[in-house]
Amino acid sequence: MNVLITGSAGFIGFFLAKKLLSNNERILGVDNLNDYYDVSLKKARLVELDSYDNFKFLNINLCDKASLIKLFSESCFDCVINLAAQAGVRYSIENPSAYADSNLIGFLNVLECCRQFKIQHLIYASSSSVYGLNSKTPFSTNDSVDHPVSLYAATKKANELMAHSYSHLYNIPTTGLRFFTVYGPWGRPDMALFKFTQKIFNNELIDIYNNGNLSRDFTYIDDIVEGIIRLIDVVPERNDHWTPESGSPATSSAPYRIYNIGNGSPVKLMDFVTALEKALGMEAKKNFLPMQPGDVYQTWADTEDLFKVTGYQPKVNVEEGVARFVEWYRKFYNC
Ligand SMILES: NC(=O)c1ccc[n+]([C@@H]2O[C@H](COP(=O)([O-])OP(=O)(O)OC[C@H]3O[C@@H](n4cnc5c(N)ncnc54)[C@H](O)[C@@H]3O)[C@@H](O)[C@H]2O)c1
Repeated sequence: MNVLITGSAGFIGFFLAKKLLSNNERILGVDNLNDYYDVSLKKARLVELDSYDNFKFLNINLCDKASLIKLFSESCFDCVINLAAQAGVRYSIENPSAYADSNLIGFLNVLECCRQFKIQHLIYASSSSVYGLNSKTPFSTNDSVDHPVSLYAATKKANELMAHSYSHLYNIPTTGLRFFTVYGPWGRPDMALFKFTQKIFNNELIDIYNNGNLSRDFTYIDDIVEGIIRLIDVVPERNDHWTPESGSPATSSAPYRIYNIGNGSPVKLMDFVTALEKALGMEAKKNFLPMQPGDVYQTWADTEDLFKVTGYQPKVNVEEGVARFVEWYRKFYNC
């Protein structure tokens, strides 16, 4: 199989590419290596991927439509997996334009290429943040998600709507994946686990929002990758019997599907911190703060649909996953 992975120097794209490469698939990775976080971490991930003969990398910005078209015209992709995006809830408050560029214009360019080059399956990253103000848990893809609380979430919801219009108009099978707080080795420096670890090593205070009264459906990277890979061959089909009144919003008459990919069991933030302290053998100095704008209190994935079609069941719990992160961090940063 010939697969395009955008965002291949990113956290999830790196692990997905690595797994598919070890399964002997041909991967073309695209990333613009932007400096939202430490570029040397992105480059180090690419060094790992470069050791595979079946990997090729191109530094392309999704906003550069001409380069994307050239790439699609020169390759014949069996599947396109779009993970490149401006990630992060908090940064979308400081720098909204970055989200409009990568997540809206960039995603539109990917859709256009999929249309022009008749791609048989587009899988793309959405996010649990689309659940916004929803308070009914677990979060289900059957629920409406019309009340985002950050621009980041709004762009991810927009991606789902844009994908639906292309699935409907041009019959392009699209699968949108709502990831729930992904963590693990090689993880993102802007996310809590990385930041907490760095600060604990530096003997600095860690910021705990909403006085620790938050919970997240933390999902270990290997479980996310397994879920994505199982979905590659689950290509959505048209369903002429579907109606908006009788069908789930996660499905359609068009070849369109949305899934949650999460662990399915929320963990209290303070329990997560305790797991980290245990793995480090060090106690964190905590700075308790109020709720941050753009944040949600709880995330919890209903993963029943994903289980039905793929048999996917997450395997790694927080104690084990955090310990594996710490092991990687110590080795990578030599501390
Ligand atoms: N990690 C999570 O917990 C999580 C949760 C929900 C959704 N997601 C989504 O999953 C996807 C992957 O997330 P991640 O954690 O690997 O993030 P990441 O930031 O590590 O990876 C994204 C990669 O995309 C690249 N990129 C950004 N804009 C680009 C552009 N315009 N052109 C080309 N490359 C570009 C970045 O350089 C980066 O390497 C993103 O779409 C993100 O929004 C992640």
